[in-house]
Amino acid sequence: MVILITGCRSGFGLRTAVTAALRGHTVYAGLRDLTTAGRLREAAEGLPVHPVQLDVTDATQREAVVSAILDTHGRLDALINNAGIILGGSLEMLSEDEVRRVFEVNVFAVWALIQAVLPAMRGVGSGAIINISSASGRIALPGLGAYASSKFALEGMTESLRHEVAPFGIRVALIEPGPYKTDMMVRNRAISRNADRPDNPYAPYTARAEDVFQRSRSSHGDPQDVADRIVSLLDRAAFPLRHPMGLSAKARLAFVRMAPFALWEALLRYVLTPR
Ligand SMILES: NC(=O)c1ccc[n+]([C@@H]2O[C@H](COP(=O)([O-])OP(=O)(O)OC[C@H]3O[C@@H](n4cnc5c(N)ncnc54)[C@H](OP(=O)(O)O)[C@@H]3O)[C@@H](O)[C@H]2O)c1
Repeated sequence: MVILITGCRSGFGLRTAVTAALRGHTVYAGLRDLTTAGRLREAAEGLPVHPVQLDVTDATQREAVVSAILDTHGRLDALINNAGIILGGSLEMLSEDEVRRVFEVNVFAVWALIQAVLPAMRGVGSGAIINISSASGRIALPGLGAYASSKFALEGMTESLRHEVAPFGIRVALIEPGPYKTDMMVRNRAISRNADRPDNPYAPYTARAEDVFQRSRSSHGDPQDVADRIVSLLDRAAFPLRHPMGLSAKARLAFVRMAPFALWEALLRYVLTPR
């Protein structure tokens, strides 16, 4: 297969690119900044992985990458929309430009790339589109409102898309990881610039959430598991829409499915109340 994956500098994207190439696929690995391809090039040495300049928010770059792949191969079998950004901070404290940026990367760019690849996929009557959502696309936690709402939007978009393109032989899925050990948890872990303001009334709650987060770090998953799931999905006949990944995501989803929302709310309040 010829596959385009976005956001391959680190994390799920890098590992999915390498894993797919090891399975014999030809991979175009998008990078927001091609000069940061060092880790990818090292991990993919000798494999059919082609790093390409692709800031997903840049329309010219999106067009150029998709055209170049189609000119070279005459087809694009799979698009994996992996690039994403996170932003911590209570909704009241976020700035408009910060929220817009989250939606630009996590929602609008995904939609635009899907638009760019669909004519070619429809033309051959097949294709796969896999969007990397999050457990935060199903359950919204406090302090992550911008991120959660962008992933909820991605979930809705993907569900509609699945119905729309099924008649053309195109398969669509969502990967919904809980916390995994990627750069999103370290280098790319962004917090709103207003969070540190001395008058931030949410500061004690944010500090408590941070404490809970730090204590959970050792239980975060191995991103290779997510890469393996994405790549194995490409070869499978069955193509379910949603793929929750990791114990924490599965446990949370099971809890909210079975228990009344009020119980979940009380549990969350108990865990996150500053003490
Ligand atoms: N790790 C988790 O626990 C977790 C859980 C649920 C969902 N996810 C989702 O998984 C996906 C991958 O994240 P990750 O965990 O692997 O984190 P990561 O290591 O930070 O990877 C995110 C990738 O997206 C890239 N990116 C950011 N903005 C971009 C842009 N405008 N254009 C192109 N690429 C861009 C980053 O490049 P730069 O570093 O160069 O900016 C990076 O390569 C995201 O959609 C994230 O929301 C992650």
